[in-house]
Order: sequence, then C-alpha cells, then structure tokens
Amino acid sequence: MAQYTFTMLLQTLILLPTITSSTLITTGGNITFPVPDLSLIGNLYSHWEYLGDDTFDLTRSVSLPTTTPLTIPMSGTRKSAIIEPSRSALVLIDMQNFFLHPEINPVAEAGRKAVEPMLKTIHAFRAKGMKILWVNWGLDGRDLLTIPPAYLDGFSGTAHSPLATFDSDMGTLNDSTPIGKFLMRDSWNARPYGPLYGEQVGGVKNGTDLYFHKNRMSGLWGTQTPLGLWLEENQMTTLFFGGVNTDQCV
Ligand SMILES: *[C@@H]1O[C@H](CO)[C@@H](O)[C@H](O)[C@H]1NC(C)=O
Ligand SMILES: *[C@@H]1O[C@H](CO)[C@@H](O)[C@H](O)[C@H]1NC(C)=O
Repeated sequence: MAQYTFTMLLQTLILLPTITSSTLITTGGNITFPVPDLSLIGNLYSHWEYLGDDTFDLTRSVSLPTTTPLTIPMSGTRKSAIIEPSRSALVLIDMQNFFLHPEINPVAEAGRKAVEPMLKTIHAFRAKGMKILWVNWGLDGRDLLTIPPAYLDGFSGTAHSPLATFDSDMGTLNDSTPIGKFLMRDSWNARPYGPLYGEQVGGVKNGTDLYFHKNRMSGLWGTQTPLGLWLEENQMTTLFFGGVNTDQCV
C-alpha cells in the first residue's frame, strides 16, 4: 500500500507541469528526477536556471507562466538576473514616522536620506507592473494579548516600563500633532514617513500597492502572517527589500 501511494505521487509530480526540454535536480528527499540539464538548480516548484557568465534566470518558467521577463544588473558576485514581473515585488520595511521622523528619532539621518531614492525605486517598480508591499509595524488589541514580554521590555529601552512601550501614549509633536499610541495600527506614528505616506495611500487606492501590518520584528515569522499568506497565494518568487533595518526586520 505504501509503495502504491509512492508511485502515484511520482506520477502526479511528473505529469503535472509541462516539462519540455529538461527535468530538474532535487536537492534531497526520496524523489530524484533524471538529470539531463545541469543548469537547473532547485526543484520543480522553485528553481533557478544558470545561464553562464554569472547570470541567473529566476523566473521558474519551467513550471509557471511568464509575461515579459526583465533582465536586471546586480552589484554582487552574481552579475545579472532575469525576473518575472508578475511574481516579483518590492517589500518596504518600517519606513514609518516612529523610526524616521526627526522629532521621534533624531539620529535616523541615513533613513531620512533613503526616502528620495526609495520614491524613485517605487515609481520604477510600479512602471514595470511590480507590486509595492508596505510592511510596517501596526499592532491591534489582539496582538497585545500575545506579544512576548521580551518585546515589550525591549522596545521600552532603559525605561523598562509599560508606559514606554507598545500601546503607550506618545504625546504630541512640537506643533501639537498627536503622535498616537506606540506603533499601534492607524496611529500617526505608525504611518509611512513624509512623502512616503501619500505614495502609500495613493498606491493602495490604485491597487499597485498593498499594506501589511507587522506584529513582530519580522513580517514573515510564519506563513500565517498577512504578508506570508499573500506571497504564497500569489506565487511570489522574487522579492526586493528596502527600508529600515532590512538585515533584521524583514
Ligand atoms: C521640538 O522642541 C524641542 C524642545 O523645545 C526642541 O529641542 C527640538 O529641536 C524641536 N524639534 C524640532 C524638529 O523642531
Ligand atoms: C494613481 O493613479 C492615478 C491615475 O493613473 C495617477 O495619476 C496617480 O499618480 C497614481 N497614484 C499613485 C500614488 O501611484
């Protein structure tokens, strides 16, 4: 019985997509495809094709449809990549008043300098039909029930106080604008900073952009986050990251 199930599974996997010139190398597991083409790295559902000369095809076109793939230069050891725009997106992390506004975070000079280049990047992505995904802190009441004390204390800095962390009232700016509750959803401090706010609101309205609230350092701490679910459901395979602390807050 076990052997029968296994055979069926193999057949399903092989018949499902249209594999034409080649099949794929898997990196492990029980199912190994024949290996006529060593340029394919990965498995049927997620693979790169190495085209030589440090150029990589990231479109997964063996198993997924393509529209008008784009070739993009890269600055690292890999020279260029080919991407499928309908499965690529720009993820913008934490470019919020809380992290970038001069009255709230005076030291974030570099972050404020990133705003202009980011606006250009956003426009370039939209022009190629690629989605902009705003991924920002935005806690709601339910999140406060499950957020670990380590987060609450960590965000309170040296105060170690519930009056200086998530959900506490942050007072007003010099011009009396209410800052709102610390990184709570829909507060002024949780909005994108400066001209990014108008871009986000307009982009979401136009349908070119999507907005995802984070309730942990990462917006991808499980596939059940709003961002994780959207990426899976839409078969996104290629992501570009920009914003604040993209080494740790993605
Ligand atoms: C806000 O007011 C404080 C206290 O008067 C001052 O030190 C600070 O420079 C002001 N910030 C801005 C951005 O105007
Ligand atoms: C939304 O679409 C309108 C009409 O195409 C355009 O003029 C505007 O610039 C767009 N806004 C954003 C933020 O993309």
